[in-house]
Amino acid sequence: MTRLKPLIETLGLSKHFAVRQGLLGRATGAVRAVDEVNLRIHRGEVVGLVGESGSGKSTLGRVMMMAEPPSSGSVIYDGYDIAASTPRQLHPFRRKMQMVFQDPYSSLNPRMTVEDSLTMPLRFHQPEMSARARRDKAAEVLESVGLSRSTITRYPHEFSGGQRQRIGIARALMVDPEFIMADEPVSALDVSVQAQVLNLFSEIRTRLGLTLLFVTHDLAVVGHIADRVAVMYLGQIMEIAPTRALFAAPAHPYTETLLSAAPDPVLGRNRKRIVMKGEPPSPMNPPSGCVFRTRCPYAVTACAQARPLLVERAPGHATACIRDDITLTPAVRDTPKLQAHA
Ligand SMILES: Nc1ncnc2c1ncn2[C@@H]1O[C@H](COP(=O)(O)OP(=O)(O)OP(=O)(O)O)[C@@H](O)[C@H]1O
Ligand code: SF4
Ligand SMILES: [Mg+2]
Repeated sequence: MTRLKPLIETLGLSKHFAVRQGLLGRATGAVRAVDEVNLRIHRGEVVGLVGESGSGKSTLGRVMMMAEPPSSGSVIYDGYDIAASTPRQLHPFRRKMQMVFQDPYSSLNPRMTVEDSLTMPLRFHQPEMSARARRDKAAEVLESVGLSRSTITRYPHEFSGGQRQRIGIARALMVDPEFIMADEPVSALDVSVQAQVLNLFSEIRTRLGLTLLFVTHDLAVVGHIADRVAVMYLGQIMEIAPTRALFAAPAHPYTETLLSAAPDPVLGRNRKRIVMKGEPPSPMNPPSGCVFRTRCPYAVTACAQARPLLVERAPGHATACIRDDITLTPAVRDTPKLQAHA
């Protein structure tokens, strides 16, 4: 079998935040936001990263982008360990890797025109480019995300939420990136607008051959856009699978719980929801063995003994659960879809 070459891969990647207390700010513990994650994203692929609030999705994305340094582990980008690079060595990778955020209004400077916001990354990454060439490129990219060239002179407050997110995407595209980490990019938008922006992501991904890490808490969103889905809980990947396989045959009890809470797009109402027992454990003091065991309906004594490895059960479908004797409920008859309003 040929192995696809990953564009970006994490190896044992961890990010722990020190918790400090007292006047001296002494470290009294650490939040294990990301804990020994191995994740491989192939060139041209869209991987969705899902999980509850606080599971570590944004932190994993940010550390993969080197927006903050990892506590340990590696991030291999196209064969280079960027986590071990100096800022100077990292510079060319900063152009290749771009981020799109949830709230474009707060990530766009309200006092800057669209032209200034869009051309700023070019001034940093391609200082040799003339002002005229930068402006032409901004107008071209705006058009490619469905906005008119004339909007270049306008300010962020003059746009709707969906249009502002198009500007956020345009800004990421200005420097011809290879990899985009989009962190909840449609969560703040109305459902009808969400589908349009997701369609734009799909379109630019195909047209530009982009690789995407799509962070979202919304399973309907990953069903719409992702080739594969990674499910995160308490800083760890619980399951990773092709999107259809994850929805049709979840292999991890936590995935089953998440899927049970997603609305059924066929029936238009929630299916029988699995209610998780107990409170989410603190990421400062995660349970021993399987971190999901305190809330898992299938837990057995052995689950407390060792952290389950992420093991491939079917081609491309891996799960971190010691029990292979349980049959879990699939999500729906098909993956959830978002409907764009005409
Ligand atoms: N700078 C920080 N300092 C201390 N703890 C942090 C920091 N950033 C994140 N955390 C903690 O790390 C854990 C993971 O947070 P993160 O924001 O990555 O989760 P998330 O899955 O993106 O959640 P959400 O869906 O709410 O965005 C949480 O317990 C959070 O409180
Ligand atoms: S290892 Fe045990 S506790 Fe963890 S998900 Fe599997 S059955 Fe549940
Ligand atoms: Mg987040």
